[in-house]
Amino acid sequence: MMYTVFFIGTAGSGKSTLVSALSNWLEDQGFDVGVVNLDPAAEYLPYVPDIDVRDRISARRIMKQFKLGPNASIVAAVDMMVTEAERIKEEMEVVGAPIFLIDTPGQMELFAFRQSGAYLIQRLSDVHSLVVYVADAVYMQTVDGFATTMLLALSSRIRFKKPQIVAVNKADLLSEEATVTINNWVEDPEALLESLDMPQYEKEVLRSVANMGGFVEPVFVSAKTGEGLDRLYHKLQMHYTGGEDAQ
Ligand code: GTP
Repeated sequence: MMYTVFFIGTAGSGKSTLVSALSNWLEDQGFDVGVVNLDPAAEYLPYVPDIDVRDRISARRIMKQFKLGPNASIVAAVDMMVTEAERIKEEMEVVGAPIFLIDTPGQMELFAFRQSGAYLIQRLSDVHSLVVYVADAVYMQTVDGFATTMLLALSSRIRFKKPQIVAVNKADLLSEEATVTINNWVEDPEALLESLDMPQYEKEVLRSVANMGGFVEPVFVSAKTGEGLDRLYHKLQMHYTGGEDAQ
């Protein structure tokens, strides 16, 4: 049985660093972990992937060959990756790790909000698959940042139709007070709505989202210091096995 965990998030939220930190952490705990890079435009990766889409499809090469801009070349690369899905899946089976962490392209909209991105996730998913939505702690500590992060995480949930964990990364840059404030907004959305300067109808939309459980309790992590990786693992474990170790 294979457990696949996809990391989705806005550019620079720390997906690659978190994949690296969590894979090291899991290995330290004795787990056999596979890592897949699905970012065709990555210039540098903080981990050594078992499978790297850039071996076959590189946004940089496409940019030169077809004289495309940086975003158009990533869009073209992600579309081309669809034809590689079967092969990537076979390679994952050859690697044979029980858990795979899958890093996705930097700009989430080029992946999440296109047909090919959702197709790739469906194709590479096993029975047990889940999305970690990686949010940026610094951005999330403002009222607007919190509200829009929750809406983006919701969009990602609608898009991928997978169980999802919201990981607030870069927690090392948050004061204790800011962490408490964010948790309060999750528990008491009215406090957040009061401090939002926006038209009434926008507040009503947010209120509905919050009341329907759209403001999910996040897990605070730092890919840099390793803080919270145990909590993230615990959440993953609860989703996959109801608490049993995924060995
Ligand atoms: P792209 O794929 O390039 O869009 O980014 P990404 O989401 O994969 O982010 P990446 O891992 O490249 O990290 C972006 C920046 O945030 C880097 O400078 C990281 O060193 C930094 N970073 C990542 N995680 C943390 C963290 O937990 N704390 C702090 N302070 N910085 C972090």
